[in-house]
Amino acid sequence: MNPNASHPKILPATPESIRLASQALRDGKLIGLPTETVYGLAARGDQPESVAKIFAAKQRPSTNPLILHVGDPDAVHSLVAMDSDITRRRFEAASSLWPGPLTLVLPRSTSVLDCVTAGGNTVAVRVPAHLVALQLLREISLPIAAPSANVSNYISPTRPEHVIDGLADSVEWVLDGGICDVGLESTVLSIADPSNPPTILREGVLSATKLESVFGEIVLSAAINNMELTKPPSDAPAASPGLHRRHYSPRTPLRLVRESDHASSANSDLRVLRIRLRGPASSLPGYVDVWSLSADGDPLEIANRLYETLRRADSGQFDQIEIDQMNVEDWSESGNANLIAAISDRLHRASNQDDAPLGR
Ligand code: TXA
Ligand code: MG
Repeated sequence: MNPNASHPKILPATPESIRLASQALRDGKLIGLPTETVYGLAARGDQPESVAKIFAAKQRPSTNPLILHVGDPDAVHSLVAMDSDITRRRFEAASSLWPGPLTLVLPRSTSVLDCVTAGGNTVAVRVPAHLVALQLLREISLPIAAPSANVSNYISPTRPEHVIDGLADSVEWVLDGGICDVGLESTVLSIADPSNPPTILREGVLSATKLESVFGEIVLSAAINNMELTKPPSDAPAASPGLHRRHYSPRTPLRLVRESDHASSANSDLRVLRIRLRGPASSLPGYVDVWSLSADGDPLEIANRLYETLRRADSGQFDQIEIDQMNVEDWSESGNANLIAAISDRLHRASNQDDAPLGR
């Protein structure tokens, strides 16, 4: 539990509040739901009116499909259409990683709502590995649509207060599941096309090596293999429509700088914060403050603290944020290349220096 969570809509995750949240979902309301990756903005996924509330609250374009969350891999079968042996075999293999930070994209069944899939012929499904989410999903026994519980293009939430910060008026309750273990959204993996290898559409904490050992076959990564998601060839797996370039951005201008840059080149009148990926948070010329995400340079710790840190940096005390780029080559010794790619991708999307300021 999180001792800092104090808002009347944040409920300690007792069996009674899980029942309350479950009833609110049944009644078509929105709930802030903890998962191991980030908090979700949950609604029942089988009712167009409830799903519409998600899009309205997040100001999310209706072209961006949602993930359906269930409490058990078996509950996926009614949501998908697996008419190929290859897809069935891949599903069985991949679901051994559930509950976990993995979202599978599969051909949809006719029972899935168009507003969930944004009219596409695939659906994204996930069994999250958070006790509170699992208890709620198993109690309610309905597919629950849940995007990250942030207003579109803002930073994803890793604590219950973050959900309240952006969406207090939209949610009935937020279940307090503490600080998210992973802190970065799930790996989105498409196994929708049996004639192509399983393909990572959005990088997360899972490594391709792990996925390949589970599937016993090669796994492609849209980011690492330089696949063009916005203009796929006609036989490519479904693109992930949510992967717009600008995303996860703070309102404060944020610029990526090289890890080796030790002085700010910003105008000296500005209050500039430097966020380092690794090492000590020692002061540097031109910065009013220096923070470090991980003294030891542990990518899991960097992922875990990234969104929380960006939100803190965006609280109005700085005119500009400069954050280290995560150059994949400089981090090749640090293990999981997919996690490095995931963090690097989120950093690029958070950087808004070249764009018009968002939502000021
Ligand atoms: O960790 C997570 O995945 C969190 C937690 C709450 O489960 N959810 C999350 O949802 O990040 P959202 O909506 O913020 O991101 C889902 C991503 C988007 O990029 C969306 O475009 C993509 O998954 N997606 C959803 N359905 C898809 C589909 N049928 N085909 C391809 N991509 C899909
Ligand atoms: Mg999101």
